[in-house]
Amino acid sequence: MAQAQGSLTPLERNAFQTELDYRKTDLFVLRNEQVEVAITNYGARIVSLLVNDREGKKTDVITGFSSIQEYLEADEDYQGAIVGRYANRIAKGRFSLDGTAYVLATNNAPNHLHGGLKGFSNVVWEVLESTDTKLSLFYLAADGEEGYPGALNVTVTYTLQDQSLLISFEATTDKATVVNLTNHSYFNLNGQGSGPILGHTLQVAADRYTPTDSTSIPTGELAPVAGTPFDFREPKKIGAAIETAHEQLTFGGGYDHNFVLADSCRPDLTLAAVATGDRTGIRLEVLTTEPGIQLYSGNFLKGKHTIKYGLKDEHRYAFCLETQHFPDSPNQPAFPSTVLQPGDTYRTSTVFRFTLA
Ligand code: GLA
Repeated sequence: MAQAQGSLTPLERNAFQTELDYRKTDLFVLRNEQVEVAITNYGARIVSLLVNDREGKKTDVITGFSSIQEYLEADEDYQGAIVGRYANRIAKGRFSLDGTAYVLATNNAPNHLHGGLKGFSNVVWEVLESTDTKLSLFYLAADGEEGYPGALNVTVTYTLQDQSLLISFEATTDKATVVNLTNHSYFNLNGQGSGPILGHTLQVAADRYTPTDSTSIPTGELAPVAGTPFDFREPKKIGAAIETAHEQLTFGGGYDHNFVLADSCRPDLTLAAVATGDRTGIRLEVLTTEPGIQLYSGNFLKGKHTIKYGLKDEHRYAFCLETQHFPDSPNQPAFPSTVLQPGDTYRTSTVFRFTLA
C-alpha cells in the first residue's frame, strides 16, 4: 500500500545487515540539526536523505530502497551509488592507453556504462571511519577488474557540515588508468516517489553541453545551449522544454546529457546547479570541482520497483545531477583528461547543499 509522503517509516538497520562476497554490509546514519543521511557500504550508496521543507515537515529527497535485497534485485538504476571506475559511457567499451587496447563490457549496448557489470556500485566497500557526521569508505579494484588496467585504491568520504553533504574522492593506481567517479543519487525535492519532477525549477551554470549520437556518446562538439532546450542558465522548470522536438531529447528520451561547467578540474568547489522542489521549497545546490555534470531526467524509470515507504519509481519521478568528467573522455583527446598515473592522486569533490527557497 502506498503511504502518504508524510509518514516516513524509519529504515530498519537489520534489513541492510548481511554478507555479500564474504564482506559485511550495514547501514550508517549521519545526522546533525539540519540533515539526516543514511548510507550503506553496499555500493557506497545514499539510501535516504531527510531535510525539512518550508513548513518544517521532514522530507526524504533521495530515492532508495528499504533493504539490501531490493538493491540487489534492482541494481540497473545505480540508485544513490558511487559509480566507477568510469562513470558514464565509453564508446563500444573500447579505449587505448599508452598503445595498449582495453576491452570493457558493453553493458549498455553498444557501449560501456558506469564501470561495467558490477563496477563500484555493486560491491561492498570497507568502512575506514564512521562517526555521527562522517563516513569514509574504501574499495580496492584489482588490476584488470572490469577490464581496466591498474589496481585502484579508492576512498569516498561523506561528511555532513551544517546543511551540506560533502562527497570527496581520492584514488591512486599502480599503472596508468582512467578514472571518473560520481554519486548517482536520484533526487525528488518534493519527496521521493511523490510525483514527477517536471515542475522542479533547475538552473545549470553551463553555456555549453556535449551533444551525443543516438547511443548517448558525445560527438566531440561543445555546443552552445543558447536557443536550445538545454539552456538552463536562468532558472526554468525541468519540464518546460522536455517535450520539444529536438533530436538530442529524442536520443536521450529526455535529458540525459553532460553540461560543460569548465574546461578542466577546478581547485575549488564551484556552484554548478540549483534545483528547487515546487511543492516543498526545498532547494538543492550542487557545488563541484568537476568540469561536467550530467542531467538525467529519470527517463528509464518505469515504475517497476517499490521504493521506500511503499512508493513507486515511476517515469521521471526523480532526476540525477551527476558531477563528472565528460562521457567517453578516454576516446576524446580534446576533452579534459581522465587518465590517472601512478604516483598521482585523483581528488575531486562535490557538495549537495540544502536550503529553502
Ligand atoms: C546515467 C546515464 C543514463 C542511465 C542512468 C541509469 O544517468 O546517463 O543513461 O543509464 O545513468 O539508468
